[in-house]
Order: sequence, then structure tokens, then C-alpha cells
Amino acid sequence: MKITLYCSIALIFLACVSSLPANDLSPKTVQILYTGNTLGELKPCGCAREEDQGGIERRAKLIGEVRKKEKNLIVLDSGDSFKAPSRQGRIKARFLMQSMELMNYDAIAIGDKDLVYGNAFFNQWKNVPFVASNLKLSGVDFIPEFKTKNLANGVKVAILALADPELFYLGGDQTISVAQPRETLNRILPVLLEKEKPDLTILLTHMKKEKALAFMGIPGVNVIVNGNIETETDVIDMNPQEKNGVIFVQAGPRGQKVGDLKLTLNNRSEISFSHQMIKLDSHVNFDSEMVKLYGKYDEEIEDLFLESLAAKRKKNKGKVYAGETACKTCHPKAYKTWAQSRHGHAYATLKRVNKAFDPECLICHTVGFNKLGGFISEVDTPHLENVQCEECHDSALDHLKSPKKGWSLKVKEACNKCHVKNHSPNFNFSTYWSKIKH
Ligand code: HEC
Ligand code: HEC
Ligand code: HEC
Ligand code: HEC
Repeated sequence: MKITLYCSIALIFLACVSSLPANDLSPKTVQILYTGNTLGELKPCGCAREEDQGGIERRAKLIGEVRKKEKNLIVLDSGDSFKAPSRQGRIKARFLMQSMELMNYDAIAIGDKDLVYGNAFFNQWKNVPFVASNLKLSGVDFIPEFKTKNLANGVKVAILALADPELFYLGGDQTISVAQPRETLNRILPVLLEKEKPDLTILLTHMKKEKALAFMGIPGVNVIVNGNIETETDVIDMNPQEKNGVIFVQAGPRGQKVGDLKLTLNNRSEISFSHQMIKLDSHVNFDSEMVKLYGKYDEEIEDLFLESLAAKRKKNKGKVYAGETACKTCHPKAYKTWAQSRHGHAYATLKRVNKAFDPECLICHTVGFNKLGGFISEVDTPHLENVQCEECHDSALDHLKSPKKGWSLKVKEACNKCHVKNHSPNFNFSTYWSKIKH
């Protein structure tokens, strides 16, 4: 613990004023929980057990449990909460912000992906503790350059957030400005250290790892929490690094894990730490408030889905897919094998988990969703439920007119549309094909 003494020479024996009680020299602990790179993952899809990690329901439970035990807690997020903009994505973004407000974060950095809904989006979230030291959004004036917090044990924490301008594709956008991180830090940090006299200074960085690591050498910075993600399949190094007492950690991908950094500050301002990444898998229960919030999200998505039906019905005139029953008579063996496979039950799976209205699920669990002539809804197109023959073999209308060999040549490549890493991490053509061979 840094004990800051203000003594004047003349009064040296009389008045030494310390920022902490002078006798309080025992080590102090501070726990930091951190997340980031969430990319809109409100809840894992449940396609594969290995990937069933993360989500606001488990995140809130974990943070809540830690909060009950540890009074000296700081909760941080390194940004990139959203991904490429869409109507559904915007709804997700809103629910994610609402959930983070409820989780009582201390500071949230703004990543390049967080700007996809424009500056005005931020003004709806005045209670979300965004921090941006070198990022300015015109029309948004509530985001501070840094934050401080006094913990129950007397430790004063300062938090800054620096983004790398190179990650922001601003083009001619005059409404966003990102200053050079070094220059910003040189301007803000000395004043902050002098005025606020924090015992612990945390820097949230939103940068590529190499760039963020360079900030470990800045005097006065104790902990760096970095975040940055390009795509959902990015592999991120989550091992902590330590150099000259400065600790560097990175948030993992898609909100699947929560970083847990426990610090001990001794009376010589030295910091020791222990670190773990906590997997938000089925060992973590759901927080009931978040379950309700997610239920509201589902309601909105169902409304969005129902709303989109009219337009789709209008557009979807011509027939593109024959549907499974057309194949049954001539390919009885293949049909039987398929009907018994999991592909033949993929829609029932969505019904079982109450997601048969979610476009983000229907896309892989039905035929031709979002394509002309494809699945619209179980009422409009019941013959296109499930992962049918034509999802792999392609539209068979021509084949029905003149049934012969040699029309479906690229079928093996079809698997990769749906058996992608995040939904089917163990996919391997030969082992998977042997399970559905027909
Ligand atoms: C990119 C394609 C894709 C998307 C999108 C997708 N799924 Fe899946 N889903 C799959 C694949 C592939 C499997 C089988 C994975 C395996 O076993 O390797 C699967 C399996 C599942 C299973 C497991 C079934 C069982 O009985 O074990 C559930 C549940 C599921 N998906 C639900 C969903 C939900 C809910 C969504 C939307 C939030 C969704 N899926 C979105 C491709 C997808
Ligand atoms: C998950 C993807 C997938 C689905 C769904 C699927 N197939 Fe296939 N099908 C394949 C693959 C892969 C092959 C093998 C191609 C090869 O060996 O070159 C194949 C082969 C075939 C063959 C040729 C068999 C042979 O011996 O030459 C027929 C006929 C066939 N499928 C019919 C169907 C019918 C009918 C359905 C629906 C009831 C169906 N398939 C569903 C992927 C699929
Ligand atoms: C009227 C009968 C008939 C119907 C209906 C029919 N097929 Fe075929 N299919 C055939 C015949 C005949 C062949 C050629 C078999 C051969 O020569 O070995 C064939 C071959 C195939 C092949 C192998 C193609 C290749 O490249 O070797 C696939 C795949 C296939 N059919 C899928 C389907 C699917 C999917 C449907 C339903 C949409 C369907 N068939 C409906 C008669 C039919
Ligand atoms: C249109 C999306 C889609 C395509 C294309 C697709 N699959 Fe699937 N596959 C799924 C979904 C969804 C499931 C899970 C269904 C469920 O259980 O609800 C699944 C499940 C499976 C399973 C069951 C996994 C298990 O562990 O039992 C196998 C095997 C499989 N797929 C093989 C293949 C192969 C091989 C191909 C390519 C020839 C393929 N799939 C193409 C979506 C697809």
C-alpha cells in the first residue's frame, strides 16, 4: 500500500498527514473481474457442449456471487460488446447494455465494434460506466476520461481507457475522434496521479496485444486489461504477463470466460497477484434477473420474426425447393437414414429450446431460410423444416424433372456452411459422414 505523506520540513515531527490511517500497514487485497470481446453473445446457442459457455445469465451469477464475498471488487470490460450491425444485433446490443448496467460494472471501455450503432446509441446508456480517455464522440458528453473508486479497505483505484486509433475505420467521419494513446496518457496520467493519488491505476486498453504490451513500461500504471477481437473465431492469449510489478491480462473471446485477477498491495506499493480465467459453463447457474431479461429479448425477437413474415410471403412466390417428401419414393433407403438422423430433427430441437422463431437459429436448422423460396415459418413452409436433402444436395427441382446421376457434385462442401467452429467444434468430415451415410 502506498502511504502518501505530506510533511512540511518545519512540522515534520508534528503533522504528518497520511491518506490512510498511519497504523494501517497491513497488505490490502483487491479483486478485479474482467470481461470483453462479447460480440453480442447474450447467450450461447447450445449447439455443442464444448462451446456452451458464457452469456449474461451466468456472467451475472458469477459477478453477484463474488460481490457477496469480496467488498473490494472492481468489475471491468474491455469493449467490443457488439458485432456487425443488424436489426437483431441492435436489439441484442440494447439488452447487453441493460444487463451490464444491472451487473454494476465499474468501467467499460469502448471498442471499435461498439460504434456500429452510431454515437446517439450511447446517450441511451448514461448509467453504463463507459470510460474513454482518448476517444471523443460528438453529441455524447457523459463519458469521462477516467474514473476513480474508493474501496472499502481504503484503496483508491483509478481507471483509464485507451483505444488504438488504427482499429477505428473512420474514413471521413468527423463525429468520432481518437487521439494518439501515448499523447493522451502523457497529458492525463501525471495530473491524475498528482491530484487523485490513487493506490492502484488500471489501464483498459483496446488494442492489438503487442501495442497494449508497450504500455507496461509507463510509470504509474499498475494493471493493464486489454481487449480486441476481429472475428468470432479469434484465438486470444489469456495468460497473464508480469514485468517490473506491472500486470497485463487480456479478455477472452465472446464472453465465454471471466478473468479473475486478485491483487495484494503491500505497504511498499508492491503488488503481487494470482490469476485465473473462470469458464462460464454449466457449473455456473443462471441469475434469475438475467433469465427474465433474456426472456424479454426472446419476446422482441419473436415479434421481429412475426413482423418479417408478411414481406417474406409476398416475395416468396416461385418454388425453389422440392422438400424431402419428393425424394421418399425413389430413395427410400436414403430417406429413412436421413429421417432418423439428427438432421431430420433439427427443427424439433429449436422447438424444444423455444427458439423456433429466432432467425439466428433457423438459418442452420431449416432449409433455405432467408433465401427466396426457402423456409419462412412452420405455418407457411412446414415442408422446409429441418436440415433436409436439399440443404446439402442443393435444389432438386431439375433432378425431379429428369432423375439421373451426376447432378449434385459439391455436396461434401455443404457441411462447412453449418458445421463451423463455434457451432460444431469437433466436426471432421469422415467421422461425421459415417454417422449419416446414406
Ligand atoms: C452455423 C449454423 C448453426 C446456427 C446458426 C445454429 N446452430 Fe444449432 N447446431 C448446429 C450444428 C452443426 C449442430 C450439431 C453440432 C454437433 O453436434 O457437432 C447444432 C446443434 C444444436 C443443438 C444440440 C442438439 C442436441 O440434441 O444435442 C441445439 C440445442 C442447437 N443447435 C440450438 C441452436 C440454437 C438455439 C441456435 C440459435 C441461437 C442455433 N442452434 C444456431 C448449427 C447451427
Ligand atoms: C447433411 C447433408 C446431406 C443430407 C441432409 C442428405 N444428403 Fe444425400 N448425400 C450427402 C453426401 C455427403 C453424400 C455422398 C456424396 C459422395 O459420396 O460423393 C450423399 C449421397 C447421396 C446419394 C447418392 C448415394 C450413392 O450411393 O451414390 C443419394 C441418392 C442421396 N444422397 C440422397 C439423399 C436424400 C434423398 C436425402 C434426403 C432424404 C439426402 N440425401 C440428404 C449429404 C447429404
Ligand atoms: C422419380 C424418382 C426420383 C426422385 C423423385 C428423386 N430421385 Fe434422386 N435419383 C433418381 C435416379 C434414377 C438417380 C440416378 C441413380 C443412379 O443412376 O444410380 C438419382 C440420383 C440421385 C442422387 C445421386 C446424384 C449423383 O450425383 O450421383 C442424389 C443425391 C439424389 N438423387 C437426390 C434426390 C433428392 C434429394 C430427391 C428429392 C428432392 C430425389 N433425388 C428425388 C431418381 C429420383
Ligand atoms: C444447413 C446446415 C447443415 C448442413 C449443411 C450440415 N449439417 Fe450436420 N447438423 C446440422 C444441425 C443443425 C445439426 C444438429 C441437429 C440437431 O440435433 O438438432 C447437425 C448434426 C449433424 C450430425 C450429428 C452429430 C452427432 O454428434 O450426432 C452429423 C453427424 C452431421 N450433422 C453431419 C453432417 C455432414 C457430414 C454434413 C455435410 C455432408 C452436414 N452435417 C451438413 C446442420 C447442418
